[in-house]
Amino acid sequence: MRNRLTGALFLAGSLMLAGCTSSSGTNPSESATPTWGTSSTASSSSLHVETLDTPGTTALENSPGFIDLPRQTDAFGAPVTLTGVRAPEALHAPVQEWTDAQAELFTAEIGQLPTPSDASLEMTPSRCGAAGSILCYVIYSQTKVPHPAASPEPAAPTISTSPSAPSHPTETATPADAAHPDASPSPSQTPTSQVSLETREEAKAWITDFEKGTVVDSLTLLSDEGRDALSALITEHLVSEGKIDSHDGAAAESADSSASPADPTASEEHDPAQDNGSEIFDAVFLDEDGALTVLVSQGTLLPEGEGITSYRISEEREGGIAELLTPDGATLRDALTSGAELASIPETPVDCSVFSCVALTFDDGPGPYTAELLDTLKEKDVKATFFLVGRSAASDPAMVSREAQEGHVVANHSWSHPSLPTLSSGTMAAEIEQTDQAIEDAGAPRPLLVRPPYGDKNATLLSLLGQRGQAAVLWDVDTMDWKNRNVSKNIETAVEKAHPGAIILMHDIHPESVEAVPEIIDRLESQGYIFVTVPELVGGDVSQYAGMSIYSQHNIR
Ligand code: NI
Repeated sequence: MRNRLTGALFLAGSLMLAGCTSSSGTNPSESATPTWGTSSTASSSSLHVETLDTPGTTALENSPGFIDLPRQTDAFGAPVTLTGVRAPEALHAPVQEWTDAQAELFTAEIGQLPTPSDASLEMTPSRCGAAGSILCYVIYSQTKVPHPAASPEPAAPTISTSPSAPSHPTETATPADAAHPDASPSPSQTPTSQVSLETREEAKAWITDFEKGTVVDSLTLLSDEGRDALSALITEHLVSEGKIDSHDGAAAESADSSASPADPTASEEHDPAQDNGSEIFDAVFLDEDGALTVLVSQGTLLPEGEGITSYRISEEREGGIAELLTPDGATLRDALTSGAELASIPETPVDCSVFSCVALTFDDGPGPYTAELLDTLKEKDVKATFFLVGRSAASDPAMVSREAQEGHVVANHSWSHPSLPTLSSGTMAAEIEQTDQAIEDAGAPRPLLVRPPYGDKNATLLSLLGQRGQAAVLWDVDTMDWKNRNVSKNIETAVEKAHPGAIILMHDIHPESVEAVPEIIDRLESQGYIFVTVPELVGGDVSQYAGMSIYSQHNIR
């Protein structure tokens, strides 16, 4: 499996790969960046502690090599939102492990609920620092699970890696939701007129060197002494802010109000100095300017209702931050503060056996509208497959070259667009060969794919293509754009007929077709589709399909 992370997404059974914005309704502001707490600064000991509104992260859409695309299905009637990462590759396994755990936990929880349709899981990735080939990557997870408001019982014990006692009710569903006709109360739960949504927030960060292929859990960069010092520092800050009464006051109160029978630590007197840092902190970021941001786990230093809180620690004196870190942490901090520009993250291939892929294909060009189409595809970061008429390619080699340069696959649509089976085998061969030659002369790779005009093919053609090491490419979604000549109709047809694995047929010689492309891309991406070339759609190596016909990802014969 090339992309282990994506398995996590499917394990949830139901998912929506979201953009980078948090749609959380529980955050104090509706900012596009996850926000927690209020901003204030206090000087404690030698270090400044600042409560952050925003944990200092950057949307991944600004990072090369990342994708995050929405996808939505409907397991248990509950919306699940996850976000995919396919680069850097070293992150896939650890991220999968964590998102798997979140998804499993959520699935188990909502499986026991009378009204699971109110439940949601949303995971939002962000970049938390970068320099050179070092990248800090964080995922925020927010689970909302409905529980009858009248029930005092805590949520079921979870397998979460951080303290997971139930949070306070943050939202109240409408009575109509609670009275859903399909909802049958479970034996342990009393039917109520109200359902509240309990919110659980978790986060985890990793730091990767994508050139070396290494990745570490951000928490391992704190030394044991550093964890103790940090939790004491933040506790002191909270006391000075009046958020908690004393070092153990609020935490003890929190434990009392949210004790889970399966959590042995929750009932104990809370002493930050004794805590394992991995329980108090969800994640640690190392800034480009040397500061340290810690995400404090929900329900640890502050009561449950506060969610995750984040604090930025900046140093007042030399060595203030460094002495909180392990030697590896200090080395990474040096790298992140080096001022080096973020290197380009190598893209990893899309695994269409996991993601929902579609291939846009454009026939009969290049033509007068091809440049506009290429601009659109560049802006949308979408790669397509172009089947060129040889004589048109020969008359506009610069456009052919541009198609190839910009990452599209350039393929063969015959020299003069005849119905190939009507030709003698010699003429048929010449139609293919001259076009291959024109494409190669323009500077594009020699085509491995041939689309016969009108989809007309016979045994002679397939045998010829087999000998040439080429596959025939047909389609299974025909937009009829050459006939429609109508932008809205082209959009509707493409979007309605698209399905995972589809090869979509369009023609870039018609302005209405080219104009339809931006919205086709937007609408299908919002449904979770990833646009790929035909070779990517069928697994990369098309030479194995020489002499065969590719109709779609799943229909090759
Ligand atoms: Ni054609």
